[in-house]
Amino acid sequence: MTLGIVGVGHLASALLKSLLRAGHPAGQIVLSPRGQGPELAARHGFALAGDNADLVRRAETVLLAVRPADAVAALRGLPWRRGQTLASACAGVPVAALAEAAAPAGIVRIMPITAAELGASPTLVYPGTPALAPILSAFGTPVVLDDEAQFEAATVSAAIYGWAQALIRESADWAGAAGVQPEAARALMARTFVAAGRMVDEQEAPVDDLLARVVTPGGITEAGLAHLEAAGTPEAWHGACDVVLRKLHGRS
Ligand SMILES: NC(=O)c1ccc[n+]([C@@H]2O[C@H](COP(=O)([O-])OP(=O)(O)OC[C@H]3O[C@@H](n4cnc5c(N)ncnc54)[C@H](OP(=O)(O)O)[C@@H]3O)[C@@H](O)[C@H]2O)c1
Repeated sequence: MTLGIVGVGHLASALLKSLLRAGHPAGQIVLSPRGQGPELAARHGFALAGDNADLVRRAETVLLAVRPADAVAALRGLPWRRGQTLASACAGVPVAALAEAAAPAGIVRIMPITAAELGASPTLVYPGTPALAPILSAFGTPVVLDDEAQFEAATVSAAIYGWAQALIRESADWAGAAGVQPEAARALMARTFVAAGRMVDEQEAPVDDLLARVVTPGGITEAGLAHLEAAGTPEAWHGACDVVLRKLHGRS
């Protein structure tokens, strides 16, 4: 199966690393000739399309990774055909807008994150499409949503992924300022977040029970949590999620 990628920027370069890592032949991937397309084609042996129409003719599956504002314009007027799949990673661009611009191709929305380059992206998918399985499993673990409203709400996780990295940076900067050697502080804080995520993901127990095991009454975790709650952190966190969902719905 030939995969074409329209929009070779930050996300696409992470996805291409994941595909190479999973053993997908570079020659079966065609890149659009903008952004990092020419450089990555020269470096790794991907095919380079003459233009987006050439790419759509050559690919059975096309992955769209241009900025959301460019998505519909990038699709219009290309030689889409029945049986082809367009997988769009463009945040907030609905199936209806993509379908209108890329008819008669079948439309799938996906939301991978850059951890795909480690094979660790929990990639959102709507609707579930077996033909995409080899690609999505290279990115990490597919998470299929039942309808587009759920897909949109779940997409907030892609922003939370960035906030988690920002929290790791804040924690490491704080530890560095408190005297911990900077490289050790960075590794420690990153692994602490990985450990917290793995415990919640891999244990059956309710999160409240997991927390009860670590929040000792009168202890350090409880003291810090009380400070975060008094400072309004839970409300601020929910508020940030609301801001992202409104933006995804085009309401801000
Ligand atoms: N970055 C992430 O971690 C992430 C995660 C999940 C989803 N996404 C989604 O992925 C999309 C891309 O994000 P990004 O961060 O990778 O953006 P980016 O780095 O700005 O890359 C977008 C690329 O699209 C190219 N482009 C624009 N119009 C084009 C067209 N008509 N034909 C071919 N190429 C075109 C741009 O080329 P020029 O430089 O020549 O303009 C640029 O190289 C967004 O819709 C975003 O919502 C991103």
